[in-house]
Amino acid sequence: MLNAAPTDLTGKTCLVTGAFGGIGASAVEHFAALGADVYATDIADNFDGPAEYRRFDLMDDTALTECGTWIADIKPDVLFNNAAIFDMGTVLDADLASFDRLFTVNVRSFYAVMQACAQSMVAEAKPGSIINLASQAGHRGEALVAHYCATKAAVISYTQSAALALADHKIRVNAISPGVIDTPMWEHVDAQFAKFEGKEIGQKKREVGEAVPLGHMGSPSDVARVAVFLASDQSAYMTAQTICVDGGNVLR
Ligand SMILES: NC(=O)c1ccc[n+]([C@@H]2O[C@H](COP(=O)([O-])OP(=O)(O)OC[C@H]3O[C@@H](n4cnc5c(N)ncnc54)[C@H](O)[C@@H]3O)[C@@H](O)[C@H]2O)c1
Repeated sequence: MLNAAPTDLTGKTCLVTGAFGGIGASAVEHFAALGADVYATDIADNFDGPAEYRRFDLMDDTALTECGTWIADIKPDVLFNNAAIFDMGTVLDADLASFDRLFTVNVRSFYAVMQACAQSMVAEAKPGSIINLASQAGHRGEALVAHYCATKAAVISYTQSAALALADHKIRVNAISPGVIDTPMWEHVDAQFAKFEGKEIGQKKREVGEAVPLGHMGSPSDVARVAVFLASDQSAYMTAQTICVDGGNVLR
């Protein structure tokens, strides 16, 4: 059967975490432009996008519980599970405080939000699509980025386990692994590399862009357009996959 209809998210309720950030804000814009009802959350006080916004600090357990209650009210069809933080350090110097921060946001909260959405989808007997933000960093370790790489490997693993557990409920779970995407996170990443590698501010960002096989950093929209595909029925037969959106940085 030919199904070449344009992608349409009308009638779908989409939840975006980390919505204030570069990729999250772009996902909100793309989902809304295609007709979805979009709900957005972040730690930021305000959000200026086409979504109903609630502030939650996902490091805080009370806020995480409140976010779960909000999710049960919203009843999302699509989750864009995107909030995360970055930090650097080798196994010789990356301490447990950094481990706790990164694993709390990037794994613990990510998991809790995914679980709350899955529980809502099952309770409502809704087919759904869960899209988890991994990273090229989740596909191989990096000497200077020990904890962050480990959190993103965990995202890929949870994506596979959740996809297999939820397949009978017609809930698809996939991940996106961005490569180097020009967002506010990169100001922080670049500054950390400047400190660890003795580079000028802006130098690392320029170098990683030039090293991408396609020749430049990606844009938030490059990631959001793949998220649209995963959110839509165009990807109806895909689950448990991790799609690299990285200009060719990771070969799989
Ligand atoms: N930018 C890249 O090059 C890149 C590469 C690989 C993976 N990623 C992943 O893509 C996703 C989005 O990245 P981005 O570049 O847009 O980052 P970003 O820093 O621009 O956005 C992340 C958002 O998460 C929010 N957040 C952080 N801690 C939070 C907390 N405790 N509670 C609630 N919200 C919190 C931030 O406020 C921010 O708005 C992340 O999962 C990131 O790890 C990004």
